[in-house]
Amino acid sequence: MSWTDLQAESGHTIAELYDDERFAEFSATYEDMLFDYSRTQMTVAARATLFGMLEDRDFAQKRAAMYGGAKINNTEGRRVLHTALRLPEDAVLDAEGEDIARQVLDSRAACFAFAEDVRSGAYAAAAGSFTDVVNIGIGGSDLGPVLVAEALTAHCDGPRLHFVSNVDGAALTQVFQNCDLSRTLFIIASKSFGTIETMETAKVALARMKSEVADASVHFAALTTKPALAAEQFGIPAERCFGFADWVGGRFSVWSPIGLPLMIGMGTANFSEFLAGAHEIDTHFQSAPLAENLPVLMACVGVWHRNGCGFPTRCVVPYDQRLATLPQYLQQLDMESNGKRVTLDGDEVAVPTSPVVWGSAGTNAQHAYFQMLHQSPTPQPLEFMIAAEPVEEGLEHLQNILIANCFAQNQAFAFGRTEAEAEALMIEDGMDAEEARRLAPHRTFPGNRPSTLLLYRDLTPRTMGRIIALAEARCFTEGVFWGINSFDQWGVELGKVLATGMLPHVEGKFAEDMVNEALSGPLAHLHTL
Ligand code: F6P
Repeated sequence: MSWTDLQAESGHTIAELYDDERFAEFSATYEDMLFDYSRTQMTVAARATLFGMLEDRDFAQKRAAMYGGAKINNTEGRRVLHTALRLPEDAVLDAEGEDIARQVLDSRAACFAFAEDVRSGAYAAAAGSFTDVVNIGIGGSDLGPVLVAEALTAHCDGPRLHFVSNVDGAALTQVFQNCDLSRTLFIIASKSFGTIETMETAKVALARMKSEVADASVHFAALTTKPALAAEQFGIPAERCFGFADWVGGRFSVWSPIGLPLMIGMGTANFSEFLAGAHEIDTHFQSAPLAENLPVLMACVGVWHRNGCGFPTRCVVPYDQRLATLPQYLQQLDMESNGKRVTLDGDEVAVPTSPVVWGSAGTNAQHAYFQMLHQSPTPQPLEFMIAAEPVEEGLEHLQNILIANCFAQNQAFAFGRTEAEAEALMIEDGMDAEEARRLAPHRTFPGNRPSTLLLYRDLTPRTMGRIIALAEARCFTEGVFWGINSFDQWGVELGKVLATGMLPHVEGKFAEDMVNEALSGPLAHLHTL
């Protein structure tokens, strides 16, 4: 099965493919969740080709290798075991004699105990129990906790959560202004404990706390794979330093101690539900046949759109305000994982890899860029998501309006409205025939623009765990299609190295070696400002 076989199946229209059986044929469920990809140009033959491509690429063996703890991250020599972080209490997982399950459960127990101590006030500041928790971290040490904290606000009954990621100091200043610092706990979250943005921001926070309270150290905890650095640089003692293994990738780390702010905010029972939802998907992903396997089907649609139909982007639109930051989360997950140019063996990939992932919450998206998606000559596939139930009782009417909008958009993108239909509608509304003819091209929707739908009952901690785990398993599967290493991120390195060298130039210190001449113009201008 080849990319050419796949491309040969493109070119059908959704309208031509749609019939009474299509929904049943091109949808699948997991518990209350429905994944509907019937309003795409996917054909039975295209799907069979995609399944064949997975078989050709030893998908089942690769999936088993990941879950079993093989070192599939072959450029860093690491296992990829974020899935172990949501194993249940009685699980057994041993990799080359290492008791992975024990490590995970011990680490989880330590985090849970600390989180509950903070919540109850058993661990408190001199001024009293902590009212605010500030996570300082970036990328994977920020996006997952931010997403889940926003999505599950209704379940958060602990100290208020704040997230400081960007190095510009704006968010930190707000924290200083809005929090009672005598009752604020700072969590420094960095897998490497070497990310300049996080380290420099944390130093500013520590300096400020030293000027505010007698024992600043009490107000700090660390989440990292480098506990020695946390002790050395910030004086954080071992009991408040929550470590994890290098086999937890940053963008897959929300299940690890990186989730500590969430454990504190929503409590460990809710966090356990979140883990359980993800573990359910792990089981489903490993056992369901391809045709019923939600993450596999989502990956097939992704690869179909990217490589079968040639769409360069995918637009994620959760019709759920609680998931407003999901597109950003998926940007890191998908684009940092699968934005690669070479295969596992270092050869150039034959086809384009990760699409640009973008989007925002609906219905707001309708009032921003849907115009372009409906009528510009460059359509892009959409991925809709929606809950059946409202955020809280009494809001059913608003939720129904939301659902109606979401479903209507699915229909409009797929089937559009012809020029003749547009003209007839205007005449029906009493418009003069000549004016209706003039306006008809402007009011025509070409349709045949694919979209998928993920429908779930309600956004509980368990559903949230499922949604993120689905995205992770999909990301892995897409990586198998492309034959790449989805678990390194060398593409971020160059900028990091150059930024360190650039700093003395920005500070006007002008180190010995001259800056790249392409940047000397902006630097010179900067120094006139
Ligand atoms: O953006 C690059 C990256 O390495 C991400 O993969 C990671 O999530 C982020 O930086 C933060 O890294 P750390 O947790 O080590 O500070």
